[in-house]
Amino acid sequence: MNKTPLTSGLLVIFGITGDLSRRYLLPALSDLAAQNLLPEQFEIIGTTRRRVTAADVLGQVSSEAAAQLAGRLRIVQMDPTLEADYRALKSTLDRIEDERGVCLNRLFYLSIPPGTYGPVVDLLGTSGLNTGCQHGEADSRVMIEKPFGYDLESARELIARIKHSFKESQIYRIDHYLAKETAQNILVFRFTNPIFEAVWDSGSIQDITITASETIGVEGRAAFYESTGALRDFVQNHLLQLLAITTMEKPRVLDSDHIHREKLKLLRSIRKIKPNKVAEVSARGQYRGYAEEVGNPDSTTETFARLKLRIGNERWNEVNLTLQTGKRLNKRSTEIVITFAAQQGSTPNTLRFRIQPDEGIDIDLQAKKPGLDNKTEQVEMAFTYAESFGLKTQPNAYERVLMDGIRGDQTLFATSDEVIASWEIVEAVVREWSKNGDGLTIYDPGTPAANIN
Ligand code: BG6
Repeated sequence: MNKTPLTSGLLVIFGITGDLSRRYLLPALSDLAAQNLLPEQFEIIGTTRRRVTAADVLGQVSSEAAAQLAGRLRIVQMDPTLEADYRALKSTLDRIEDERGVCLNRLFYLSIPPGTYGPVVDLLGTSGLNTGCQHGEADSRVMIEKPFGYDLESARELIARIKHSFKESQIYRIDHYLAKETAQNILVFRFTNPIFEAVWDSGSIQDITITASETIGVEGRAAFYESTGALRDFVQNHLLQLLAITTMEKPRVLDSDHIHREKLKLLRSIRKIKPNKVAEVSARGQYRGYAEEVGNPDSTTETFARLKLRIGNERWNEVNLTLQTGKRLNKRSTEIVITFAAQQGSTPNTLRFRIQPDEGIDIDLQAKKPGLDNKTEQVEMAFTYAESFGLKTQPNAYERVLMDGIRGDQTLFATSDEVIASWEIVEAVVREWSKNGDGLTIYDPGTPAANIN
């Protein structure tokens, strides 16, 4: 067979009929196809237990997406717990390569419940799907959705288990927040604008607050959410990753290895929360109506979480850090607000990274109000992606996630060490909150994050 084209691929999506695939993966693949960004040698194989056809699956997405993907998707019906079915899957992949006369990279996307990652990865390994085609010319990669583990211990177990079948260089732990254009811009903004580098420490900054506020509820994911909650769903991964890229030291080189090294150092320097301090540094809430929605009137699962943290290094020692997220709040917005220390009597300046929507960066400044007296007023200096770059929409994060998986770039994925370091940060809170519902605030849908205490 011929040598593998650099970005060729067979993308196998486990859970092709699921919510993630319908809402994010298939639309992202269709957008990539529409822009001619998919490799020439590329095919999507969707696996499901159900008896469905490619047309059935494409019937669930927009007609534009269906038109782009028609002819590129084939369905393999399989039970992901049965070894024999993996042999059948392997024969399908081998056959496609035989037909095309080329070895193709294999990408396994696990869009399935987190509890099944371990067994599925084991079976990918035992059936030989953890290596490329027979001739060893191509790579095999596995892409795994968050949450990676349920707590520190289960994350450690899962990491050890997956290691038996895949090497770290083959594992892509997805955190789609890192793939958002605006999140990546934080690094560019920080490290290529010297005026900000000069004030990026506790000498100038007093507070960093990262808020991910959603208006949606649990959207039919009751079983998943009920056993997950906001802390595991958002804080342990998306918010800690955003905090890490906002506060890490400048990597010597802006490549995958160096960025991961600095992010890890930062995550490891966040001070551990003592069990007896959890109540003091955290808050949790549940939107009114949630318990009925998930069919568990006694539910203590939080749909809102706030955590106050400190970084134990010289640069950030005295700075207050707050991470907060919630569902059914007053607005959909993810932002990082950096508040600079104010001189006595003056209003602090703030710098705001608007991750979404209306992506951009603002700085609040004091300006003299026009007129003959000396009144001042707060004004905003704003950079908006849409205006500056004439873009109506940002590339979807999942386009980037899939593209990087296809081309084998691990920069925007979480390493096993980062996953562990992040679980270590939230571990005490996970434990305390699992004991009982003490301190759980019930909030009305539409409440602003800042009002939940
Ligand atoms: C996912 C969470 O990781 O991110 C969901 O599991 C959440 O609960 C979603 O709704 C939000 O992503 P985005 O890109 O729409 O902000």
